[in-house]
Amino acid sequence: MGKPVLVVSSGAGISAESGISTFRDAGGLWENYPVMDVASATGFRRNPELVHRFYNERRKALLEAQPNAAHRALVDLERDFDVYVITQNVDDLHERAGSSHVLHLHGELMKIRSVTDPDYVETLDIDHLETTPATRGRNGQLMRPHIVFFEEPVPNIEPAIELVRRADVFVVVGTSLVVYPAAGLMQFVRPGVPVYYIDPHPAAVGPDVYVIARKASEGMAELAELLERRV
Ligand code: OAD
Repeated sequence: MGKPVLVVSSGAGISAESGISTFRDAGGLWENYPVMDVASATGFRRNPELVHRFYNERRKALLEAQPNAAHRALVDLERDFDVYVITQNVDDLHERAGSSHVLHLHGELMKIRSVTDPDYVETLDIDHLETTPATRGRNGQLMRPHIVFFEEPVPNIEPAIELVRRADVFVVVGTSLVVYPAAGLMQFVRPGVPVYYIDPHPAAVGPDVYVIARKASEGMAELAELLERRV
Protein backbone atom coordinates (compact mmCIF):
# COMPACT_ATOMS: atom_id res chain seq x y z
CA MET A 1 0.00 0.00 0.00
CA GLY A 2 1.24 3.53 -0.80
CA LYS A 3 1.74 6.15 1.83
CA PRO A 4 -1.22 8.30 2.84
CA VAL A 5 -1.49 11.55 0.89
CA LEU A 6 -0.91 14.71 2.90
CA VAL A 7 -1.77 17.95 1.14
CA VAL A 8 -0.61 21.28 2.52
CA SER A 9 -1.93 24.68 1.58
CA SER A 10 0.58 27.32 2.65
CA GLY A 11 0.48 31.10 2.76
CA ALA A 12 2.78 33.97 3.60
CA GLY A 13 2.84 33.04 7.30
CA ILE A 14 4.98 29.96 6.69
CA SER A 15 7.76 32.21 5.38
CA ALA A 16 7.40 34.88 8.10
CA GLU A 17 10.05 33.24 10.29
CA SER A 18 12.41 33.38 7.31
CA GLY A 19 12.10 37.17 7.38
CA ILE A 20 9.75 37.48 4.40
CA SER A 21 6.97 40.03 5.02
CA THR A 22 3.38 38.83 5.03
CA PHE A 23 0.75 40.94 3.28
CA ARG A 24 -2.03 41.75 5.74
CA ASP A 25 -0.40 41.65 9.19
CA ALA A 26 0.52 44.95 10.89
CA GLY A 27 3.58 46.15 8.95
CA GLY A 28 2.68 43.79 6.11
CA LEU A 29 3.43 44.60 2.49
CA TRP A 30 -0.03 45.89 1.62
CA GLU A 31 0.29 48.51 4.34
CA ASN A 32 3.22 50.13 2.53
CA TYR A 33 2.28 49.39 -1.07
CA PRO A 34 -1.29 49.74 -2.31
CA VAL A 35 -2.07 46.24 -3.50
CA MET A 36 -3.95 47.40 -6.58
CA ASP A 37 -0.93 49.47 -7.67
CA VAL A 38 1.69 46.73 -7.45
CA ALA A 39 -0.19 43.45 -7.73
CA SER A 40 -3.14 43.90 -10.06
CA ALA A 41 -3.54 43.69 -13.82
CA THR A 42 -4.83 47.28 -13.86
CA GLY A 43 -1.85 48.51 -11.83
CA PHE A 44 0.56 46.73 -14.19
CA ARG A 45 -1.06 48.36 -17.23
CA ARG A 46 -1.00 51.75 -15.56
CA ASN A 47 2.54 51.73 -14.18
CA PRO A 48 4.59 48.67 -15.19
CA GLU A 49 7.79 50.38 -14.02
CA LEU A 50 6.51 50.46 -10.43
CA VAL A 51 5.38 46.83 -10.56
CA HIS A 52 8.76 45.64 -11.87
CA ARG A 53 10.50 47.64 -9.15
CA PHE A 54 8.26 46.11 -6.46
CA TYR A 55 9.11 42.57 -7.55
CA ASN A 56 12.81 43.44 -7.92
CA GLU A 57 12.74 44.36 -4.24
CA ARG A 58 10.92 41.15 -3.32
CA ARG A 59 13.59 39.13 -5.15
CA LYS A 60 16.36 40.90 -3.26
CA ALA A 61 14.66 40.09 0.06
CA LEU A 62 14.18 36.47 -1.01
CA LEU A 63 17.86 36.07 -1.86
CA GLU A 64 18.71 36.93 1.73
CA ALA A 65 16.16 34.51 3.20
CA GLN A 66 16.55 30.86 4.10
CA PRO A 67 13.91 28.16 4.59
CA ASN A 68 12.85 27.82 8.23
CA ALA A 69 11.93 24.91 10.50
CA ALA A 70 8.34 24.88 9.20
CA HIS A 71 9.43 24.40 5.57
CA ARG A 72 11.81 21.67 6.72
CA ALA A 73 9.14 19.95 8.81
CA LEU A 74 7.11 19.47 5.62
CA VAL A 75 10.11 17.76 4.03
CA ASP A 76 10.46 15.46 7.06
CA LEU A 77 6.80 14.44 6.69
CA GLU A 78 7.72 12.87 3.32
CA ARG A 79 9.06 9.90 5.31
CA ASP A 80 5.53 8.87 6.29
CA PHE A 81 3.34 10.63 3.73
CA ASP A 82 3.15 11.50 0.06
CA VAL A 83 3.32 15.23 0.66
CA TYR A 84 2.00 17.75 -1.87
CA VAL A 85 2.48 21.43 -1.15
CA ILE A 86 0.08 23.93 -2.70
CA THR A 87 1.40 27.38 -1.95
CA GLN A 88 0.09 30.90 -2.43
CA ASN A 89 3.66 32.06 -1.89
CA VAL A 90 5.81 33.27 -4.75
CA ASP A 91 9.02 32.54 -2.86
CA ASP A 92 11.02 29.36 -3.48
CA LEU A 93 11.59 28.40 0.16
CA HIS A 94 9.62 25.14 -0.05
CA GLU A 95 11.79 24.05 -2.97
CA ARG A 96 15.01 25.14 -1.27
CA ALA A 97 14.01 23.24 1.88
CA GLY A 98 13.70 20.13 -0.30
CA SER A 99 9.96 19.53 -0.76
CA SER A 100 9.42 17.19 -3.71
CA HIS A 101 6.07 18.47 -4.95
CA VAL A 102 5.29 22.18 -4.89
CA LEU A 103 2.44 23.78 -6.83
CA HIS A 104 2.46 27.59 -6.93
CA LEU A 105 -0.98 29.18 -7.16
CA HIS A 106 0.14 32.80 -7.46
CA GLY A 107 3.29 32.44 -9.55
CA GLU A 108 6.99 32.44 -8.80
CA LEU A 109 9.22 35.37 -7.95
CA MET A 110 12.35 33.95 -9.54
CA LYS A 111 10.63 33.47 -12.90
CA ILE A 112 9.45 35.81 -15.64
CA ARG A 113 7.08 35.12 -18.46
CA SER A 114 6.30 36.48 -21.88
CA VAL A 115 3.78 39.31 -21.99
CA THR A 116 2.24 37.82 -25.12
CA ASP A 117 2.64 34.08 -24.54
CA PRO A 118 1.70 33.03 -20.98
CA ASP A 119 3.22 29.57 -21.51
CA TYR A 120 6.70 30.95 -22.19
CA VAL A 121 8.45 31.12 -18.80
CA GLU A 122 12.12 31.64 -17.96
CA THR A 123 13.95 31.29 -14.65
CA LEU A 124 15.99 34.37 -13.80
CA ASP A 125 19.72 34.10 -13.57
CA ILE A 126 20.74 34.77 -9.97
CA ASP A 127 23.14 37.53 -11.10
CA HIS A 128 20.45 39.31 -13.17
CA LEU A 129 17.40 39.50 -10.95
CA GLU A 130 16.31 43.01 -11.94
CA THR A 131 13.66 43.40 -14.61
CA THR A 132 12.08 46.44 -16.27
CA PRO A 133 9.25 46.88 -18.78
CA ALA A 134 11.98 46.62 -21.46
CA THR A 135 13.26 43.20 -20.31
CA ARG A 136 13.22 40.64 -23.12
CA GLY A 137 13.44 36.88 -22.87
CA ARG A 138 15.90 34.70 -24.74
CA ASN A 139 13.24 34.39 -27.46
CA GLY A 140 13.18 38.17 -27.88
CA GLN A 141 9.71 38.68 -26.39
CA LEU A 142 8.92 41.30 -23.77
CA MET A 143 8.71 39.72 -20.33
CA ARG A 144 6.79 40.41 -17.10
CA PRO A 145 6.99 39.02 -13.56
CA HIS A 146 5.63 35.45 -13.40
CA ILE A 147 3.05 36.53 -10.85
CA VAL A 148 -0.70 36.01 -10.88
CA PHE A 149 -2.02 39.54 -10.47
CA PHE A 150 -5.36 40.35 -8.92
CA GLU A 151 -8.01 40.40 -11.69
CA GLU A 152 -6.23 37.52 -13.45
CA PRO A 153 -7.30 33.88 -13.48
CA VAL A 154 -5.43 31.34 -11.35
CA PRO A 155 -4.44 28.61 -13.84
CA ASN A 156 -3.16 26.18 -11.21
CA ILE A 157 -6.37 26.10 -9.20
CA GLU A 158 -7.67 23.06 -11.12
CA PRO A 159 -4.68 20.81 -10.36
CA ALA A 160 -4.77 22.14 -6.79
CA ILE A 161 -8.40 21.08 -6.36
CA GLU A 162 -7.55 17.63 -7.76
CA LEU A 163 -4.80 17.28 -5.14
CA VAL A 164 -7.10 18.35 -2.30
CA ARG A 165 -9.65 15.75 -3.43
CA ARG A 166 -6.95 13.07 -3.07
CA ALA A 167 -5.88 14.18 0.42
CA ASP A 168 -5.99 11.75 3.35
CA VAL A 169 -4.84 14.61 5.58
CA PHE A 170 -5.19 18.31 4.76
CA VAL A 171 -3.08 21.00 6.41
CA VAL A 172 -3.46 24.76 6.06
CA VAL A 173 -0.61 26.90 7.34
CA GLY A 174 0.04 30.64 7.60
CA THR A 175 -2.75 32.14 5.54
CA SER A 176 -5.46 34.66 6.38
CA LEU A 177 -7.84 32.73 4.09
CA VAL A 178 -9.13 35.88 2.44
CA VAL A 179 -7.87 35.49 -1.13
CA TYR A 180 -9.96 33.26 -3.39
CA PRO A 181 -9.90 30.78 -4.98
CA ALA A 182 -7.05 29.56 -2.74
CA ALA A 183 -9.07 30.18 0.43
CA GLY A 184 -11.78 27.84 -0.84
CA LEU A 185 -9.58 24.76 -1.29
CA MET A 186 -10.68 23.37 2.07
CA GLN A 187 -14.17 22.73 0.75
CA PHE A 188 -12.84 20.02 -1.58
CA VAL A 189 -11.55 17.65 1.10
CA ARG A 190 -13.44 14.37 1.21
CA PRO A 191 -15.75 13.84 4.18
CA GLY A 192 -13.94 12.48 7.22
CA VAL A 193 -10.51 13.72 6.16
CA PRO A 194 -8.79 15.46 9.08
CA VAL A 195 -8.06 19.16 8.49
CA TYR A 196 -5.48 21.09 10.51
CA TYR A 197 -4.95 24.88 10.41
CA ILE A 198 -1.76 26.38 11.83
CA ASP A 199 -1.75 30.17 12.27
CA PRO A 200 -1.06 32.38 15.31
CA HIS A 201 -4.09 34.52 14.36
CA PRO A 202 -6.33 32.02 12.61
CA ALA A 203 -9.29 33.10 10.52
CA ALA A 204 -12.72 31.79 11.51
CA VAL A 205 -13.13 28.21 10.30
CA GLY A 206 -15.68 25.46 10.81
CA PRO A 207 -15.84 23.27 13.92
CA ASP A 208 -14.34 20.29 12.09
CA VAL A 209 -11.02 22.04 11.58
CA TYR A 210 -8.35 21.34 14.21
CA VAL A 211 -6.80 24.78 14.84
CA ILE A 212 -3.22 25.07 16.08
CA ALA A 213 -2.93 28.75 17.01
CA ARG A 214 0.87 28.97 16.95
CA LYS A 215 3.53 30.26 14.62
CA ALA A 216 4.46 27.95 11.77
CA SER A 217 7.64 26.37 13.19
CA GLU A 218 5.99 25.50 16.52
CA GLY A 219 2.70 24.54 14.93
CA MET A 220 4.39 22.20 12.45
CA ALA A 221 6.25 20.48 15.32
CA GLU A 222 2.96 20.00 17.16
CA LEU A 223 1.32 18.71 13.98
CA ALA A 224 4.14 16.20 13.39
CA GLU A 225 3.54 14.78 16.87
CA LEU A 226 -0.20 14.58 16.34
CA LEU A 227 0.28 12.81 13.00
CA GLU A 228 2.80 10.39 14.42
CA ARG A 229 0.06 9.08 16.66
CA ARG A 230 -2.22 8.55 13.68
CA VAL A 231 0.23 6.73 11.37
P1 OAD B 1 -1.69 37.23 4.52
O1 OAD B 1 -0.68 38.30 4.77
O2 OAD B 1 -3.05 37.64 4.13
O3 OAD B 1 -1.84 36.35 5.82
C1 OAD B 1 -0.71 35.89 6.51
C2 OAD B 1 -1.14 34.95 7.60
O4 OAD B 1 0.04 34.46 8.20
C3 OAD B 1 -2.00 35.60 8.70
O5 OAD B 1 -3.14 34.81 8.96
C4 OAD B 1 -1.05 35.63 9.90
O6 OAD B 1 -1.73 35.44 11.14
C5 OAD B 1 -0.16 34.46 9.61
N1 OAD B 1 1.17 34.51 10.23
C6 OAD B 1 1.92 35.58 10.59
N2 OAD B 1 3.08 35.17 11.13
C7 OAD B 1 3.08 33.82 11.13
C8 OAD B 1 3.99 32.81 11.55
N3 OAD B 1 5.17 33.10 12.10
N4 OAD B 1 3.63 31.52 11.37
C9 OAD B 1 2.45 31.20 10.81
N5 OAD B 1 1.56 32.10 10.40
C10 OAD B 1 1.86 33.39 10.55
O7 OAD B 1 -1.03 36.21 3.48
P2 OAD B 1 -1.73 35.11 2.56
O8 OAD B 1 -2.94 34.54 3.22
O9 OAD B 1 -0.69 34.19 2.10
O10 OAD B 1 -1.19 37.20 -3.49
O11 OAD B 1 -2.20 36.02 1.35
C11 OAD B 1 -2.76 35.46 0.22
C12 OAD B 1 -2.39 36.24 -1.03
O12 OAD B 1 -2.67 37.63 -0.84
C13 OAD B 1 -0.92 36.21 -1.33
O13 OAD B 1 -0.54 35.06 -2.04
C14 OAD B 1 -0.72 37.46 -2.16
C15 OAD B 1 -1.60 38.41 -1.40
O14 OAD B 1 -2.19 39.42 -2.14
C16 OAD B 1 -0.64 37.87 -4.53
O15 OAD B 1 0.12 38.78 -4.39
C17 OAD B 1 -1.07 37.41 -5.87
